[in-house]
Amino acid sequence: MQLKPFVDPLPLPPVLNASDGKVLQVSMKETEQKLHRDLPPTRVWTYGGCMPGPTIEVQSGKVARIDWRNDLPAKHFLPIDHHIHGAEKDKPEVRGIVHVHGARVQTDSDGYPDDWYVPGQSRLHMYPNKQDAAALWYHDHAMGINRLNIYAGLFGNLIIRDEHEQSLNLPHGEFEIPLTLSDRLLTQDAQLYYPVSGNSEAPWVSEVFGDAMLVNGALLPYLEVQPRRYRFRVLNAANARFFHLKLAGERPFQQIGSDQGLLSAPLTQKAVLIAPAERVDLVVDFSTMAGQHIALYNDALPIMQFRVGGGNVRDGSVVPAVLRDIPRMPESAATNQRLMTLDEYDDCVAEPMLMLLNGKRWHEPVTEKPVLGSTEIWSFVNLTDDTHPIHLHLVRFQILDRRRFDQGEWLASKTIRYTGAPEPPLPNEMGWKDIVQASPGVVTRIIVRFDGYVGKYVWHCHLLEHEANEMMRPFEVVPA
Ligand code: C2O
Ligand code: CU
Repeated sequence: MQLKPFVDPLPLPPVLNASDGKVLQVSMKETEQKLHRDLPPTRVWTYGGCMPGPTIEVQSGKVARIDWRNDLPAKHFLPIDHHIHGAEKDKPEVRGIVHVHGARVQTDSDGYPDDWYVPGQSRLHMYPNKQDAAALWYHDHAMGINRLNIYAGLFGNLIIRDEHEQSLNLPHGEFEIPLTLSDRLLTQDAQLYYPVSGNSEAPWVSEVFGDAMLVNGALLPYLEVQPRRYRFRVLNAANARFFHLKLAGERPFQQIGSDQGLLSAPLTQKAVLIAPAERVDLVVDFSTMAGQHIALYNDALPIMQFRVGGGNVRDGSVVPAVLRDIPRMPESAATNQRLMTLDEYDDCVAEPMLMLLNGKRWHEPVTEKPVLGSTEIWSFVNLTDDTHPIHLHLVRFQILDRRRFDQGEWLASKTIRYTGAPEPPLPNEMGWKDIVQASPGVVTRIIVRFDGYVGKYVWHCHLLEHEANEMMRPFEVVPA
């Protein structure tokens, strides 16, 4: 289907303030939404009636209470695989539980995958927001089906503000815009299509890639901008697609932040690669582009367009040379090291492919029990051919390095023989992160302090199809 590009204005989800002391009510509900002027409406599942859901704003240090209500229909409209752990036939078809990705919260408000609830029920979550300004996001985390729930539309942004960031005078208000990216497959009549395997009993597929690229839920939208600086809070909310963003003509932009807030200093970039669930905070200065139409690309494909107005605009915003202090965590601070394998079993006889962390399935007893307040180094030994974006709940971390190793030797004798020198993280990975791209044939090391709360949390691959088929494990923070 050839759709005319750049005919729809970029949708901007409504903003809800959750720091005014009141309980914010957000309900999951089915609705229809037009993804493009020339398409009929598409059935979607939303938080609060739109996809992406409302942008929730909170102030660092101020408690937010959100009552997440499940008002979804009783039947799912996407193909459930009942062989997937947690989605067996005896489980209700429609279940939801909300996780705020990147939030430091107590376990009972974190959206533990088994804590799902059914239509008609709701759950009050408490977010202390004792953490720095950052662009977090909320999405479904129900065991065995969250890849379908998120694909259906259950995701939105949650922005934490703090005084330090506000003092910097970055572009804000109408000049700060969320860009939430996702890709979907659409049927002829513009309905969401979630692909299935050849086996109707076990429809799970290992990854989903769509050809319809959505920005804030719209196909090929445009945004009118003034010739001045804008701040774009970019989120990759796709199930499996990595986005490689650039502006037409390789125009440079600045990256000022990543998953867990500001970088220490702005970086000038011509392209940026964003894995599923990663966020990048970008500033584009349109002042030299007055009157032009500039497309934003994913590799060679345009995904939206900026229409820069003319005239003289007074731009009072700045991008300071120093954004914040991010001391590097010394390796010597770690009191424990863990080696974690990322595995893939393709045993063509019994089951479809299975992906595991550390060779273990989700329901096996907890093996990772970091002590509250302690620092650990986790080494992800990637034995597969894919890059897996690995995410830990509760914490923020720093990336130490990546180093090639001999996969054959590991398989033969479970020893690591490095075949290259350690490579430092990319400059835009030097800030606080909650996702790390673990490359194939590489040991990727992170250093993390288990601050916050004791209790059970999860870590997993954020390719949602992998996460569903056992690439997710619990960890438990234990008292000192
Ligand atoms: Cu984005 Cu376990 O979550
Ligand atoms: Cu993965």
